[in-house]
Amino acid sequence: ALIPVVLCGGAGTRLWPVSRELHPKPFMRLPDGKTLLQQTFDRAAGLPQVGRIMTVTNREFFFRTREEYESTRANAVAASYLLEPQGRNTAAAVALATLRVEQLEGPDAVMLVMPADHVITNADAFAKAVGQAIVLALAGRICTFGIRPTQPETGYGYIEHSDQDVVAFVEKPDRITAQRYMGSGRHLWNAGMFCFRAGTMLQELEQLCPEILEGCRAALVTARHAELPRGEQLEFAGEKFASIRSDSIDFAVMERTALAAVIPCDNIGWSDIGSWSALSELSLADSSGNRVDGETVVHDSRNCFVHSERVVAIVGVEDLVIVDTPDALLVAHRDRAQDVKHVFSQLKAKD
Ligand code: GDD
Ligand code: MG
Repeated sequence: ALIPVVLCGGAGTRLWPVSRELHPKPFMRLPDGKTLLQQTFDRAAGLPQVGRIMTVTNREFFFRTREEYESTRANAVAASYLLEPQGRNTAAAVALATLRVEQLEGPDAVMLVMPADHVITNADAFAKAVGQAIVLALAGRICTFGIRPTQPETGYGYIEHSDQDVVAFVEKPDRITAQRYMGSGRHLWNAGMFCFRAGTMLQELEQLCPEILEGCRAALVTARHAELPRGEQLEFAGEKFASIRSDSIDFAVMERTALAAVIPCDNIGWSDIGSWSALSELSLADSSGNRVDGETVVHDSRNCFVHSERVVAIVGVEDLVIVDTPDALLVAHRDRAQDVKHVFSQLKAKD
């Protein structure tokens, strides 16, 4: 069986004000009415031979996550939850899931790590890519999914490859390096999903970041366990957990492992929707290039994006992103959508 592991945590700072610490990106609702998290769950359940879906998230999000799952199409699939008292980044989240899968299913179980913070529009092409990844995983590789870069994005991992072999993995390069990679023709973006045998990942964690693995082992021993109607719930205790080193799986393992492989898969329709401009592209524009909510009043305006629960009117403006929530309002230039992350850090500094 294939065990999808959904990762849900962390605030998407470039999607402020809708994405915040208590309302991170996976809970954002897309134009189709589903949240990114629900879409990820459906996507996981739609894969062949899925036994159970494991979700690693903060314990604060448990009820919300379960509710989201129960109200979506794929709710008949078994769901287990690993609940963190605080975020220790993705290396720990992956280590915890892998340790638990090994306990339940043994080292040969194949896992697919799926972040709940991006969209994939072509489910069939995705399922095909996962099929290829499983073959590589069974051969002892840690398989990534590669997307051809369209801009020198510095928020992604870059995979230098020759066919399915990974020559080098570089997480979040600086701008100059990203520009060089974009022009090389040999680099792909890392889509953030990973497919591997549980035993392979444990061996690499042991080699490359033993203290994280050790910390997670200890957390698992003291975790509170509860059976659910279809699955289980493991809640990790505070003190032990806080001392686990916080690092991403990309830095801790992927940059340094010799086992990395890649499936190039431009056709799956992957988008990280890292900013409002990327999110706006998921909905249809009117003839003036505006993408606005149903209630919005538009007069003589072009290329604007409006997202609001209230009635918003735009008059004689161009290229604006307007996102309204009950207690915060964003007005930004379309080309500066990436800079919204600075709002988040400024607000945080004031707290
Ligand atoms: N459970 C849990 N705990 N989940 C977490 C935690 C944590 O402490 N931290 C992050 N996550 C979840 C996020 O919600 C997201 O779904 C996923 O793990 C990836 O974390 P991000 O923080 O969004 O990583 P990133 O976007 O900076 O980089 C990753 O994704 C890029 C593509 O979107 C890397 O894998 C890059 O190499 C990749 O290009
Ligand atoms: Mg991300």
